[in-house]
Amino acid sequence: MFETLTPAPPDPILGLTEAFRKDGNQAKINLGVGVYKDDAGNTPVLEAVQQAEARLVASGVDKSYLSIEGSAEYGAAVRALLFGADHAIVTGDRAVTIQTPGGTGALRIAADFIHKMFPAAAIWISEPTWANHIQVFEAAGLEVNTYPYFDATTNDIDLEQLLEAIDGIPTGDAILLHACCHNPTGVDPTVEQWRTIGPRVAARGLLPFADFAYQGFGDGIEADTAGLQVLCESNPELMIASSFSKNFGLYNERVGALTLVGAPEAAEAALSQLKICVRANYSNPPAHGSHLVTTILGDPALRALWKEELTAMRDRINGMRQALVAKLAEMDVTRDFSFIERQRGMFSLTGLSREQVDRLRQDRSIYIVGSGRINVAGLSDANLQAFCEALAKVV
Ligand code: LMR
Repeated sequence: MFETLTPAPPDPILGLTEAFRKDGNQAKINLGVGVYKDDAGNTPVLEAVQQAEARLVASGVDKSYLSIEGSAEYGAAVRALLFGADHAIVTGDRAVTIQTPGGTGALRIAADFIHKMFPAAAIWISEPTWANHIQVFEAAGLEVNTYPYFDATTNDIDLEQLLEAIDGIPTGDAILLHACCHNPTGVDPTVEQWRTIGPRVAARGLLPFADFAYQGFGDGIEADTAGLQVLCESNPELMIASSFSKNFGLYNERVGALTLVGAPEAAEAALSQLKICVRANYSNPPAHGSHLVTTILGDPALRALWKEELTAMRDRINGMRQALVAKLAEMDVTRDFSFIERQRGMFSLTGLSREQVDRLRQDRSIYIVGSGRINVAGLSDANLQAFCEALAKVV
């Protein structure tokens, strides 16, 4: 049977890492996958994580199975991080959380759940979006449609078109929104814009689904929940996929969560259905990463240290944004790249064409996603000059 198979194309993001590893050029630069790098080009294990890990080992925590939905303590910590511990959604038992293998696990379980419970529902995603969204949702059997989001001429949100599209989505469909640090554009709605988007989604009777993979990389852990808080004001039901890959640097621990908001009894019923989706997928979640997150969030000193380290990561990325824009201006690059400074999170959609992306890779061993998305966190004082020279050459 296998002899009939043809090779699949490499993954548009993770495939770049594979190609980068094989590239023998000493001056190669990887701005592909969204992984944070420090100024020395390393992906650090946060000090808060190291301390939590030492405590966990000392505590002799066992390796028995977690429950299907994962640890209750972790779920409570996730909800407090999303809404604040005193929020009516939390105190009124209006949210349930399942622990998932990464944010991608949360997206897939949500997709399975939507498709199984509401077979007529399609999901609407922004154009552009994270390359894997389409694949994850289609694999679950969902029909995937797109709504306009980004205006490439202004490098800003196209709010008018976005709202018009929302008004045309059939009632009962789901709409995926990036809670902050939109991937790949780096452009988020302002709070005022969220205030327009939230009620429009509700008026249309859509199920909002927030992908929240970069909490803390925009303006701060609490500040980045602003859009979500506004969505909750007008939408009594919604879902949220959290990832702790980036903000805790726990990439390979695969630690994420799916939170569902609804009336208490409805949320409990939904939880029982989500558990069936989990059991049929991976049975129950991995424990180590979630133990680390729960330990850090539950200890005031570790939590403060984590926040400090997260702030340092965010500040370094924003510093690189400024340095990149300044360096390009210094080189008399006529194309205006000043928008990069206004964007938030790890990514920037540079506006480079596929051909320019290919030339950067062929001529300079610079790896960026085919859409023109760069991981700003992959830039450092050591590679900025080389990257800017190459960029100036291709534009
Ligand atoms: C990215 O967009 O680069 C990250 O979310 C990593 C991934 O899995 O694609």
